[in-house]
Amino acid sequence: MRPPRLTRRHFLAASGAMLAWAALPPMKAWARADEALRLSAGKASFSLEPYGPAEVGGCWGYNGTVPGPVIRVKQGARLRAMLENALAEDTTIHWHGIRLPNAMDGVPHLTQAPVAPGGRFEYDFTLPDAGTYWYHPHANAPEQLGRGLSGALIVEEAEPYPADREILWLLDDWMLDRDANLVGGFDDMHARSHDGRIGNTVTINGRLQDDEPVRPGERIRLRIINAANGRIFRLKFGDLPAHVIALDGQPVAPFEAGRVTLGPGMRADVVLDIAASADMGIDVIDDFYAPAAFRLITLQVAGESVRVAALDSVPPALPPNPVPEPELADAVNHEIEFKGGMMGSLPRDEMIGLMRQGMAWTVNGQPHAPDAHRHEAPLFAVERDATCRLTLINDTRWFHPIHLHGHHFRVLTRDGQPEPHLPLRDTVLMGPQERVEIAFKADNPGDWMIHCHVLEHHAGGMGGVFRVT
Ligand code: C2O
Ligand code: CU
Repeated sequence: MRPPRLTRRHFLAASGAMLAWAALPPMKAWARADEALRLSAGKASFSLEPYGPAEVGGCWGYNGTVPGPVIRVKQGARLRAMLENALAEDTTIHWHGIRLPNAMDGVPHLTQAPVAPGGRFEYDFTLPDAGTYWYHPHANAPEQLGRGLSGALIVEEAEPYPADREILWLLDDWMLDRDANLVGGFDDMHARSHDGRIGNTVTINGRLQDDEPVRPGERIRLRIINAANGRIFRLKFGDLPAHVIALDGQPVAPFEAGRVTLGPGMRADVVLDIAASADMGIDVIDDFYAPAAFRLITLQVAGESVRVAALDSVPPALPPNPVPEPELADAVNHEIEFKGGMMGSLPRDEMIGLMRQGMAWTVNGQPHAPDAHRHEAPLFAVERDATCRLTLINDTRWFHPIHLHGHHFRVLTRDGQPEPHLPLRDTVLMGPQERVEIAFKADNPGDWMIHCHVLEHHAGGMGGVFRVT
């Protein structure tokens, strides 16, 4: 075995702060309408080579891989996927960000019966929107995603985007012991009441990779998915102008971002233009938990320039998806207030009472355990095709990526200030004590989840149902 190279990353690891790691191209699966893609949830593993053991113990994955196969489908195509449950517990698949019929949404007890061990369930729907999406279980999510069940779902535009190359990074975060086994005790009360399960090892596509080779002059479309349970990423690409062209799969007028912030569940498509004269590595830094910043990976520039002519300084926009625009003039208003968590505004007795039930958060005054959703009245109901303007009030000391199922929404304001770029998203990251206004056209009938995508927060009560009648 060759001795590991000593890098800054390994220093951080040695000091117990952080291991960072990255990627080989993941296994791909092309879905064809005439046959169902098989996704078997069961035991799996991934390798930390060349920096650590060949197998991380205790993982689960789809078709034996971590992450699961990359599913690529053309916009407008049909996806048929047969979930086979080889786990010893119930599971489902949720297609995060896809606007699909309610019965295909994969929420156990709400949109389908859970798939028991040994059971199967066929998902069958069409993909209305191009973009970067992902899939994961919606049962015992802190543990099932924490052990590795998730994968990328890429819906391709009709016309390929004019970039030289596409790179996909599915980011995940693992809590490993010294022998590279997953640390058990998922979803403990500490994770529930603080910032979720934050690990000590970050992978890109289930690998530890020191650098990603790039060519001078290249225009790269980088798709980034945050599949971590609780970790938030804030990436800076050296001095490169990073142009965001899509958020949560939905196109946005391209804008230059100093940093790209992704809470759990969120995605960004970023265009990176490597200068034709570049000859040095470009460090990609994550500084969300600064001063515990770390180098995620280095874009290693090598080879001949791929172009002579200069590129336009702003990359082209993606074509819009057919998402209905909210009609604000006729909107109905609803409000959701989140309270709880450590150091929050709930009186001490109330917090102790909650924690006695294993809960840590309230949504409009009540904790909502994931398994209880079918028994509960919806948080609010909207008539089909009405526009809902929803005010999300974060009366807590913590960040919460709030995810809506079945719809994408415009983020309108944050603490009363217009949100830059008014993005269309399926998940919005609320800062501590922030108040965020969103709006969406409720065109998709059914009972849908709205919840925090810090999976331990959802398990601790931070979710609920809204109804489109
Ligand atoms: Cu990505 Cu309700 O989940
Ligand atoms: Cu949360």
